[in-house]
Amino acid sequence: MNRASLPVASVQDTLSVLSDIVIPTVAKGPIIRRPKIVALTEALDLDTRAVRRMQRLRDTYGPGPLMLRVPGQPRALILDPEHVHRVLAGSPEPFTTASFEKRAALSHFEPKGALITRGPARPDRRRFNEEVLDHESPMHRLSAQLLAVVAEEADELLKTVRRRRYALEWDTFFAAWFRLVRRVVFGDGARDDTKLTDMIFKLRADGNWAFLKPKNKGLRKRFFRRMHRYLERAEPGSLAHVMAHTYATKQTAPDHQVPQWLFAFDPAGMTTFRSLALLASFPEQAERARQEVRESPPLPVLPFLRATVLESLRLWPTTPMVLRQSTRETQWEEGVMPAETGVLIYAPFFHRDETRLPYAHRFAPEVWLEHGFSQPWPLIPFSQGPAICPGRHLVLLLTSNMLAHLITGREVWLRPLNRLGVPGPLPGTLNNYDLRFELSR
Ligand code: HEM
Repeated sequence: MNRASLPVASVQDTLSVLSDIVIPTVAKGPIIRRPKIVALTEALDLDTRAVRRMQRLRDTYGPGPLMLRVPGQPRALILDPEHVHRVLAGSPEPFTTASFEKRAALSHFEPKGALITRGPARPDRRRFNEEVLDHESPMHRLSAQLLAVVAEEADELLKTVRRRRYALEWDTFFAAWFRLVRRVVFGDGARDDTKLTDMIFKLRADGNWAFLKPKNKGLRKRFFRRMHRYLERAEPGSLAHVMAHTYATKQTAPDHQVPQWLFAFDPAGMTTFRSLALLASFPEQAERARQEVRESPPLPVLPFLRATVLESLRLWPTTPMVLRQSTRETQWEEGVMPAETGVLIYAPFFHRDETRLPYAHRFAPEVWLEHGFSQPWPLIPFSQGPAICPGRHLVLLLTSNMLAHLITGREVWLRPLNRLGVPGPLPGTLNNYDLRFELSR
């Protein structure tokens, strides 16, 4: 056993990790984005700067993990691709998903969510999520009903776009996307219940402040009360219906799993919009996607469009910081990491490191067609290992089909046309809130 200590970053390098990586990530809003800060991040190209910082740390300190010189809880930064695989394969033991800051943030709206559960309840809550979301299956058991909902909501959205002289902007898309989400999760009866989702947006905004803001227990109670009405109704064709027929124990807390889904459908919407920007900027790939749609059966898997969505998540990951916490001392090639260390995996470093990946800054859906979720290099938009996102296939099913409706039979132009700077390297940040499209008549 190598009892040596892991490399420790100098005070200056620790401060640079805070200023270049941690603070911008937190300022953007880890639980719900702050659009103004996202715009600023894009204008100042802060995400590119963060990747550069990571590259310099790797060049200075080697494979790590690199301990940061911070007071209180020890913190380690993962620098080596093999270590990413190791940490994520080791969830929840010895690397729990329920890290200190995640518990502080998510307990505002889902104190019994699987992601922030430690101990014996964790496997049960994870199992419940896996079963309801059909996590191993590219086609959810409700695919037929869910795709009918996608078609109807896409149609409604396109009608609005026509009324707006064929312009498509974020607010219009987001409203349509959340009508779809409410129908998928709770059924048609919840379609227009914006009050319900506004409540969770508000609770998530509090979650951005983690332990710095007191819990709004009154609002949380009202949100759960309103949500229970839909869960009890368990409308056929919705996830609420699947939940009602899924085994739950006294520990499962099925209702506490749902806020995580509502939360996570938000980045799914952002990703759809960014994927549309990619397709609008790369006509050859857009044509390939249209051909895939034309040649597909009525309940299509759409591998190319799914790869496009995954690629948008590689380029602009919506969970840039994957956090774990070690539950015991762990041994590494370079030395020992103490128990209760907060482990930081900064995904953009692995997704956009041009010194290692020839496709780092270009649109390369073929990477996903070849390897799917089992990537040899750590491309981890949905995480990896036993705590991989159980909603990933459902997300890809809904987003790829939404894109299929938006691009089929029409041209889509991004405004301004070279917003993505094509043919140059793709930008480090893509602000979804100010993306504008024009659709052909
Ligand atoms: C673009 C959309 C999404 C992305 C990129 C995404 C990504 C992720 C990632 C990276 C994690 C791991 C987080 C961590 O370890 O801290 C995660 C966990 C999770 N996701 Fe997603 N997610 C998305 C959408 C969804 C949706 C729509 C659902 C449900 C319908 C969902 C359900 C979950 C659940 C339940 C967990 C916790 C898993 C566990 O505790 O083991 N996700 N997701």
